[in-house]
Amino acid sequence: MSYSPTILVLDSGLGGLTVLREIVNALPAARYIYVADDAFFPYGRLSEEDIIARVVPLVGELIGAHAPDIVVIACNTMSVSVLGPLRAAYPAPFVGTVPAIKPACAASKTKRVSVLGTRATVQREYTQALIRNHAQACTVTLVGAARLASLAEDALSGKLVSDADILSEITPCFVPAGEGGGLRTDAVVLACTHYPLLLDRLLRLAPWPVSWIDPAPAIARRVVDLLGLLGPLAPNTAGDHDRPPEMIFTSGRSRTLADALAPFFGGRVPA
Ligand code: DGL
Repeated sequence: MSYSPTILVLDSGLGGLTVLREIVNALPAARYIYVADDAFFPYGRLSEEDIIARVVPLVGELIGAHAPDIVVIACNTMSVSVLGPLRAAYPAPFVGTVPAIKPACAASKTKRVSVLGTRATVQREYTQALIRNHAQACTVTLVGAARLASLAEDALSGKLVSDADILSEITPCFVPAGEGGGLRTDAVVLACTHYPLLLDRLLRLAPWPVSWIDPAPAIARRVVDLLGLLGPLAPNTAGDHDRPPEMIFTSGRSRTLADALAPFFGGRVPA
């Protein structure tokens, strides 16, 4: 018997929608619950201890209320801080979003890669370990952006965000040739799920062309693979769930998930 899974996706705000859209593309028949912990946004300023203290009980409540088949932590800051404690606390399968250092280093020809994340993400031991284990012969520059996730939220909600503000956050990613004896940066890891929301601006404002590495398609493949291990997945036609998709803001805001996703699907409401 095939099944149509319930998938819980969690971020600090709306950045996780950039991961969710890839999962919806792969599994349109699933039931989705998207949770934005916007009462605590931005996570980038929080300590590891604060994130663990906030997220472990929150996820416990969400698992209790929604019985998801899988939990996707669609936030780098959360993932590098709390994935271990979450896996230790709950038996549900978890998929995290962590800086895509390995694919970026594999793709880089100049062997100079930057990781653009929140301040918290670039400071975490989890991220440092990814560099130690997967940077291969690359020189990696860590760039902690204090405001870029908030600028992405602003842009998504239709507020004016200046080029100068975005540029000042991304400029440290661009290490020119000769600095430290190397070639110039040619790959930048989007190590925050909010940043793909600004991709058109990043492409336009970059001092020179680089590959912007977004792990979201790989995360969607991982979700499909793990759910497939639980049983045969229902065909990708419209969902047969008796409960509708949900969007939950911990601040109490209200919006439908179809409405939030529509801009990612050319204005159409996904099935
Ligand atoms: N979307 C989150 C991430 O991937 C970060 C945004 C925040 O600072 O809350 O890291």
